[in-house]
Amino acid sequence: MTETTIASERGTDTEIETTKGESTERTREEWTDYESAGETVLSVSDLNVYYGDEHALKDVSMDIPEQSVTALIGPSGCGKSTFLRSLNRMNDRIKSARVEGTVEFDGQDIYQDGADLVELRKRIGMVFQSPNPFPKSIRENVAYGPRKHGDINRGLTARLLGRDEKDAEDRLVERTLKQAALWDEVSDRLKDNALGLSGGQQQRLCIARCLAVDPEVILMDEPASALDPIATSKIEDLIEELAEEYTVVVVTHNMQQAARISDQTAVFLTGGELVEYDDTEKIFESPESQRVEDYITGKFG
Ligand SMILES: Nc1ncnc2c1ncn2[C@@H]1O[C@H](COP(=O)(O)OP(=O)(O)OP(=O)(O)O)[C@@H](O)[C@H]1O
Ligand SMILES: [Mg+2]
Repeated sequence: MTETTIASERGTDTEIETTKGESTERTREEWTDYESAGETVLSVSDLNVYYGDEHALKDVSMDIPEQSVTALIGPSGCGKSTFLRSLNRMNDRIKSARVEGTVEFDGQDIYQDGADLVELRKRIGMVFQSPNPFPKSIRENVAYGPRKHGDINRGLTARLLGRDEKDAEDRLVERTLKQAALWDEVSDRLKDNALGLSGGQQQRLCIARCLAVDPEVILMDEPASALDPIATSKIEDLIEELAEEYTVVVVTHNMQQAARISDQTAVFLTGGELVEYDDTEKIFESPESQRVEDYITGKFG
């Protein structure tokens, strides 16, 4: 079969958008129908996202397997953050954004009417590019979520009712900070303001804040791009460790990083298309798509 027939079969006869240096090769469906050995946690089908008239993500379908690291790579503006945000409905917060398609999590479409967004974002947590701790103590940053969700009773009312769970909170704070590989650096100053920590420490604190509510999936948007190489390598080690227990989806601009830490890699390219999705080794060593190969070898992007 020639590429032209494939293109017309899929009804994509129009010229495809590319950037300078990128080949105009058309995408084939079989390049993205990767199935991993692991159980699927998130199943995305025919996802389209628009910002007003701009079509930012086009017909993206992919299954994300549990307890592994899925990397999302591609040039600036190809829709990686948009895709990540659609996995826990963070795009709902953007007025002009419109999402079509389905994202199944635990057998339910997260976009169905009446979905509980607070619960959803507890189970699918998010860590952003710039560390954004609250201007509160280190301890309060970690305890914030469990207190808000009522997992831990604290405060005046709890004290008056004799239900103050300070000990349980102490244990949770310690366990979570250890999990985020930060405990040794902060155990003697839990009452200090979190904004006094270094950037890399702040980012690990944000990961701890996300872990404290016991999520199943952790979405990370370029979590190390604002950090120096040492802090970056700590975050990378942490991501690999977290994947033993959680499902991690991470956007990165750093291809070495994607190659080092991920199990499978999804490549998004110009026009908001998912072009190839496969085992990380396969993507970096012998991608099917010429456009992906051009991107990985630095011909554009
Ligand atoms: N809040 C928004 N309002 C309007 N358009 C947006 C918004 N966020 C993203 N877009 C547009 O959607 C497209 C995809 O953007 P997105 O931020 O998802 O790309 P990205 O791959 O994460 O890029 P980068 O690598 O630079 O972070 C871009 O054309 C962008 O201009
Ligand atoms: Mg982005």
